[in-house]
Amino acid sequence: MTATKVNPQEQLNQFLAQSKADSFLDPSFAAFMDDRDPLKDLRTEFIIPTRGEIAPGASNPEESCIYFCGNSLGLLPKAVKRYVSEELEVWGEGAVNSHFKHRFGRPWVRIEETVQEQSARVVGAKKDEVAIMNTLTSNLHALFAAFYTPTKDRHKVLIESKAFPSDHYAIESQIRWHGLEPKDSLICQEPREGETLLRTEDILETIEKHGEEIAVVCFSGIQFYTGQYFEIEKITKAAQAKGCIVGWDLAHAAGNVPVQLHDWNVDFACWCSYKYLNSGPGGIAGIFVHERHANDFGRNRLAGWWGHDKGTRFDMVNEFKPIPGAAGFQHSNPSVLTTSALLGSLSVFEKTTMQDMRAKSYLLTGYLYHLLITEFSTDVLDIITPSDPEQRGCQLSLVFKRGKMMEIFEELAKKAIIGDERKPDVIRVAPTPLYSRFEDVRRFVVELKELVKEIYH
Ligand SMILES: Cc1ncc(COP(=O)(O)O)c(C=O)c1O
Repeated sequence: MTATKVNPQEQLNQFLAQSKADSFLDPSFAAFMDDRDPLKDLRTEFIIPTRGEIAPGASNPEESCIYFCGNSLGLLPKAVKRYVSEELEVWGEGAVNSHFKHRFGRPWVRIEETVQEQSARVVGAKKDEVAIMNTLTSNLHALFAAFYTPTKDRHKVLIESKAFPSDHYAIESQIRWHGLEPKDSLICQEPREGETLLRTEDILETIEKHGEEIAVVCFSGIQFYTGQYFEIEKITKAAQAKGCIVGWDLAHAAGNVPVQLHDWNVDFACWCSYKYLNSGPGGIAGIFVHERHANDFGRNRLAGWWGHDKGTRFDMVNEFKPIPGAAGFQHSNPSVLTTSALLGSLSVFEKTTMQDMRAKSYLLTGYLYHLLITEFSTDVLDIITPSDPEQRGCQLSLVFKRGKMMEIFEELAKKAIIGDERKPDVIRVAPTPLYSRFEDVRRFVVELKELVKEIYH
């Protein structure tokens, strides 16, 4: 499979004909799709909880659960267990010496370099444009500290009205940090009356109208609630044409869709690694700084010794000399355990490409989309995620009508089907291409149909 801008529905129709199954809900159709899936072996790289582990008392406790929650926390790759336990061994054997002498060739003093290149591949960046450090909100602060330099005429920040709360809080606090007020300096892009998604044309219009006053445009790559995948390249280009700096929070995009941060000329970006990158709860995060800012040392960045020139870092001279590129934005020596966990999870990504994952994702989420719109009436559920596969990743956000969302969610959990809920009425389901199967999608829909019959009588 290669990623092309084909309509997944057309492909699914062709596969239905080839499979000779009666319908898309026929188990033999899902089996056909899973069998021809070039990524199918990657599922074995993960530890998938059983139904019994997730929902004690569930029928068929030995079967694997249906896990559609990689948008929140990815499953545990077996390699993560291995890499982390190796670091514990090395710590036990070598203690402080392991910073320089390491049985597995990963001296801790350079541990972050072990994940730099693979992370860069995932986000379409050059190696030196990426640094693995801290956690997401801290990194957003660090990047704003360097790239948000308000002046009297250009002091505004443009964000989504429904930005993830942590981003909203961080950006408001950055505005206040400069002695400004969010009511004067924050523009929140609202969807049109009666709409949930943001239209690119409206974002571009805001940029056209207010661009000269905007210092930074900062959106999420994929919106956490709706699953909308913004047109990163187009928005970046339009905002930069007005002289704005453009940053992206890729929490829901990294490892989900094949972004091209370098080619799209993005100024900065940040992401976490515990969602689609499967590095574990609280995993170490990443930043991207475009290479054209690599030697821009005039910015008043938040400095720390790990961003200092490696050749003289241990000379303790107290004259900060930043490493060119993203690495110069690092603060602390990184957590070895979480970096090794990321190394383990990225080793799975190295067995495929983001393009091949995207090709599977089109079909897998396209399959889910098709079943949901054909099997359920709109007075039970709506899908707020864009119907255009180019404008979404693997997640679909389902609105359950008539105040029944929590009931549906709790009943799904009892059947060991894991999505997540966002109040007031949304269940997010994300079949991730690395470990989800077409059979998981089919079973999810079959089980949901039964629940809907019981709950919406
Ligand atoms: C879009 C987005 N931004 C920021 C965050 C906050 O991440 P962290 O707690 O790792 O700083 C999240 C967490 O889910 C998120 O989804």
